[in-house]
Amino acid sequence: MSNSVKTIYLKDYQAPDYLIDETHLKFELFENFTMVHAELHIRRNPDKQSDELPELVLDGQELELLTVVMDNVVINSNSYTVDDKSLTLQPNKNSFILKTTVRIHPETNTALEGLYKSNTMFCTQCEAEGFRKITYYLDRPDVMSKFTTTIEADQQSYPILLSNGNQIASGQEDDRHWATWQDPFKKPAYLFALVAGDLWCVEDSFTTMNQRKVDLRIYVEPENINKVNHAMTSLKNSMRWDEEVYGREYDLDIFMIVAVSDFNMGAMENKGLNIFNTSCVLARPETATDMAHQRVEGVVAHEYFHNWSGNRVTCRDWFQLSLKEGFTVFRDSEFTADMNSRTVKRIEDVAFLRTHQFAEDAGPMAHPIRPDAYMEISNFYTVTIYEKGAEIIRMLHTLLGKEGFRKGTDLYFERHDGQAVTCDDFVKALADANAIDLTQFKRWYSQAGTPQLEVLESYDSATKQYHLTFKQFCPPTPNQEEKQPFVIPVKMGLLNKQGQDLPLQLVGEGTLVGDVILITEAEQTFTFANVGEKPVPSLLRDFSAPVKLKFAYSKDDLLFLMQHDNDGFNRWDASQRLAIEAIQQQVVNYQAGNPMVLDSGLEKAYASLLADSSLDQAMVAEMLSLPAENYLVEISEVADPDAIHAARQFIRQQLANNLKGQFLTHYQANRAVSQQEAYRATADHIARRSLQNMALSYLMLTDDPQVLTLCLDQFKHSDNMTEQLAALTNLVNSPYESEKQQALVDFYEQFANDPLVIDQWFAVQANSQAGDSLARVVELMKHEAFTIKNPNKVRSLIGAFANNNLTGFHQKTGAGYQFLADQVLALNTMNPQIASRLLTPLTRWRKYDEERQQLMKAELERIMAADKLSSDVYEVVNKSLV
Ligand code: ARG
Ligand code: ZN
Repeated sequence: MSNSVKTIYLKDYQAPDYLIDETHLKFELFENFTMVHAELHIRRNPDKQSDELPELVLDGQELELLTVVMDNVVINSNSYTVDDKSLTLQPNKNSFILKTTVRIHPETNTALEGLYKSNTMFCTQCEAEGFRKITYYLDRPDVMSKFTTTIEADQQSYPILLSNGNQIASGQEDDRHWATWQDPFKKPAYLFALVAGDLWCVEDSFTTMNQRKVDLRIYVEPENINKVNHAMTSLKNSMRWDEEVYGREYDLDIFMIVAVSDFNMGAMENKGLNIFNTSCVLARPETATDMAHQRVEGVVAHEYFHNWSGNRVTCRDWFQLSLKEGFTVFRDSEFTADMNSRTVKRIEDVAFLRTHQFAEDAGPMAHPIRPDAYMEISNFYTVTIYEKGAEIIRMLHTLLGKEGFRKGTDLYFERHDGQAVTCDDFVKALADANAIDLTQFKRWYSQAGTPQLEVLESYDSATKQYHLTFKQFCPPTPNQEEKQPFVIPVKMGLLNKQGQDLPLQLVGEGTLVGDVILITEAEQTFTFANVGEKPVPSLLRDFSAPVKLKFAYSKDDLLFLMQHDNDGFNRWDASQRLAIEAIQQQVVNYQAGNPMVLDSGLEKAYASLLADSSLDQAMVAEMLSLPAENYLVEISEVADPDAIHAARQFIRQQLANNLKGQFLTHYQANRAVSQQEAYRATADHIARRSLQNMALSYLMLTDDPQVLTLCLDQFKHSDNMTEQLAALTNLVNSPYESEKQQALVDFYEQFANDPLVIDQWFAVQANSQAGDSLARVVELMKHEAFTIKNPNKVRSLIGAFANNNLTGFHQKTGAGYQFLADQVLALNTMNPQIASRLLTPLTRWRKYDEERQQLMKAELERIMAADKLSSDVYEVVNKSLV
């Protein structure tokens, strides 16, 4: 019942009354049920003594309790209480062994939390609170235990039996076999994992910095065995990188990854046995795009890095989630930057943050990176906890410098190894190691919202002084009206007429460290001396803080920064500001019914980018991409989807027409190389293909039959998915109806046996700019390859439509909203986590015009009125309607 959903507060945190030193599990897996026998070695928490023995309240959900035995005495059901969330007993000793047997039903578990089946295999997902669906337990991260797990199953159907740690025994009896695994490290239950299935594996090994040989295995269903090389290479690179950059060595003799098709999230860092969504492990050139390859590399690294930032040192409670996630995202993004192009990685991350996290921060679900209340923790695996969390860690890295940061993390790992700790502990380790005070900085942990940083300049030619005044303001967020000033590191430069950086000489108040000034007040002026001419400021280089920077750049300034700034990120950012201005003017024209025009400055800038052969191709491709529609929505006062789409499309069209020759030259040159060289997922190859595909997407707007021929050739004769899918996407959004239909048919036939490629096929159609996209999506839900039970399918069809197809989803009739609400309701009981995530676009109703607001709210209200809302859906809808 929805109104029984309770809010949990950080301020109410209490250490556990009991601890579980050892956990011995035995699973008997059958087709129609599973038996779970648990033996828990429980003892009172010595830190929480009182005269009386407190009750023992074990978490448990959807469990059929069969027996309870305490120290070998069977406990009668009069002596304990069971409700739908817990098992409560009154112990009579300080330490005892509790044995329970429960029956569970993984074969009908559609929520994909706890123990469930994906295709024919058994697998688990326990974070955050899934373990309580496996057995009665103290399912909280500050209870850490040594696990021994025995799995017994049919030998034929489940030849592979895996759990955390090392296999210590195995055996066989008739048609059933068993294996026992022991994990020597204490861990919370959320890191438990079990897998049983008919799997194949690719094996490799890694020799650690102390010359220990680690066995590496990636398990997949047999048909995927030829798609794991990229993940294996990524894993070995990650292991080396963590040794070199953080001094962290892997700690078990074996590290396993298992790929499963049905998975709510990307992947999970279970100790020694990571479980991955197939979409984050499998990649080979013919079936996975460059982006997919990079995602695999990033997620493999992320989960591996959790072995230290998350597992060896874990979270005390779920309010501390960003302790492991923000830090680990920062670690994986630096890894990716080191493996590929650092600037491109930064651009991609910031574009993502600005589009998705800034929108979350401005909406009803806004929360600080360390929230102080939640109803359903699954709803807090957010872009704020992860991506903004990573930005906060990045600022600490900027403040302390590379070496200072490393000293801090060394102290953190040393001090807290084997413990469940808080964000405060993390910051304290960094502060202690560097003898600095981070008290004010910690406001980033407790205050939600995206600060605005307004900057005003003034130049005095007589004194040769240049003044910058910074004003910070953070808009109110739910339950936080007023905010205290943040510490904002602003990495910057002052450019002279030649585009060179002037030396920074600060006089008077303020702190300058290297090229970083520290904003700490609501309003603050910095004065720079010996500035011979009025400079152009390059502010917030490398996006040194997650804020919205406002500075009145002229168009000429932006063109100048685009060409000269020695910070690649800011060169790109200048191009985006220029494009945003050009688009926003056409939004106004469109709304007023005036003709739209292409800004000549933007055209000139693009022409010179295309003409400059000295530029890095990846940068050219980034700078030639107009800001995404979703980002244009985010920065609008009142977003007008039709106007945004029309204005952006108009500018693309004009650029395409006017710069056609240059686009064609780039396209043909790069396509020729693609045809000669075998595919590689390296930074230079990826850059080349992204420029090639960028050029193609412009060219396809020119309605030139010769371009269609090029596009069809790329579609039919590419050896890799990056080129083929780009060609398909262009065809789907083109006016060439018969070629489009044929391409969709051919593509489906070619890849009908590869679900991950079919996901792409669904997404391309869901994002189609053809007017009938909603009808098409509804039709595709009946397609043989679609099933609402598979989260990847839901994301690629329903999610892609609602999140990315701006005009389709926001059509004035409200049909898009109604469709989404229907799907949320269908998924509410089946898979609450996916249902809740799907809701996101509806929660942003305040961004739109009055009519759309009413339509969106009406759908939220319809969901609210439904029976048996899950806590996941209830929390999001409830907060959205406040
Ligand atoms: N810890 C995982 C990761 O970031 C995410 C798992 C979250 N799962 C969930 N059902 N909320 O790598
Ligand atoms: Zn993570």
